[in-house]
Amino acid sequence: MSLFNVYPLFDITPVTAKDVYVFDEKNTKYLDLYGGHAVISIGHSHPKYVKNISEQVSKMGFYSNSIQNPLQTKLANKIEELSGCEGYELFLCNSGAEANENALKLASFHTGKKKIVAFKNGFHGRTSAAVAATDNAKIIAPLNAQQEVEILELGDLVGVEKTLAKNDVCAVIVEFIQGVGGLDESTTEFYEGLEALCKKYNTSFIADEVQSGFGRTGDFFAFQKHGVTPTIIPIAKGMGNGFPIGGILIHPSIKASFGLLGTTFGGNHLACVASSTVLEVIEEENLMENVKEISAYFVEKAKSLPKLKSLKGRGLMLGLEFDFPVAELRKKLIHEYKIFTGSAKNPNLLRILPSLTVKKEHIDVLFDALKSEL
Ligand SMILES: Cc1ncc(COP(=O)(O)O)c(C=O)c1O
Repeated sequence: MSLFNVYPLFDITPVTAKDVYVFDEKNTKYLDLYGGHAVISIGHSHPKYVKNISEQVSKMGFYSNSIQNPLQTKLANKIEELSGCEGYELFLCNSGAEANENALKLASFHTGKKKIVAFKNGFHGRTSAAVAATDNAKIIAPLNAQQEVEILELGDLVGVEKTLAKNDVCAVIVEFIQGVGGLDESTTEFYEGLEALCKKYNTSFIADEVQSGFGRTGDFFAFQKHGVTPTIIPIAKGMGNGFPIGGILIHPSIKASFGLLGTTFGGNHLACVASSTVLEVIEEENLMENVKEISAYFVEKAKSLPKLKSLKGRGLMLGLEFDFPVAELRKKLIHEYKIFTGSAKNPNLLRILPSLTVKKEHIDVLFDALKSEL
């Protein structure tokens, strides 16, 4: 049976990986500044992560959500401690799209309304409501297009108020730093305005932290820079360092009841151990401090880069924007310099999403390569 061909692939086959490096079948070493799309947070094959998951799978890998699972409570408590988001409750699922889908569904249950407000260049995943809230007509099937969604310009508070005032909107969903779209971020005034309007019109305020959360920006969540309080916070990617896990943090204003949400695999034993280990390592190795330090170093180095139009993003969610398409440069970085980087919807943007363990010497390798190519 052949594979359903939905991805354009680089002809590289990684078979092992260690911290910020991956190795192919011929043992060629690649510097991974992409982290498998912002997923690798504590480094590939971190020894504590390998040990904890191995020990857990040898005891018990899975049971359904019909029994007590203290590993879920442990994870919830640790997220609360490191994020400082007090009083929220945790629902666990398996991916970013699923987290957003559950967030939107919960918002609809809670408010009794069904329309979504989302923003241009936003990306929220490929499931039913999440994809409908994503600004990319090519990935929305007619089935998904049945959802009622208003896509507005990021920053357009007047448009948001006009739409919310009709009183049929269950949720406003926003990435505080757009990932796939190209690392745009609006102002604190805009995000505060969104929060106020959501309160005024009984609408859930969803902060999609699937890519930007779990320490990637140097804060636990990207929204925290703006001092707002979202109603629902979807999380995934860096949460499991590669083990599939997602979740939503739910503000205490929304009350749980049996049957409201559910999943077979979400919150399974292995996923909980993976994510708790990620949090322990972030804390023990001071990784959020490392993010700030390396990010500042990157910003400084970028100043002397020729042909750079702008530097976007923050923390270790960064983009180098040039005034030419970067596809060829990216290929050269991979094949000639053995460095993985990411692309974005904006064709001129090179995305840098390394493990939070990355060091200055790795950033130097990237800039040396860029300088000799530009
Ligand atoms: C902000 C954001 N939300 C949601 C998703 C979807 O996550 P997943 O691919 O795990 O379904 C992504 C994936 O890139 C994302 O960047």
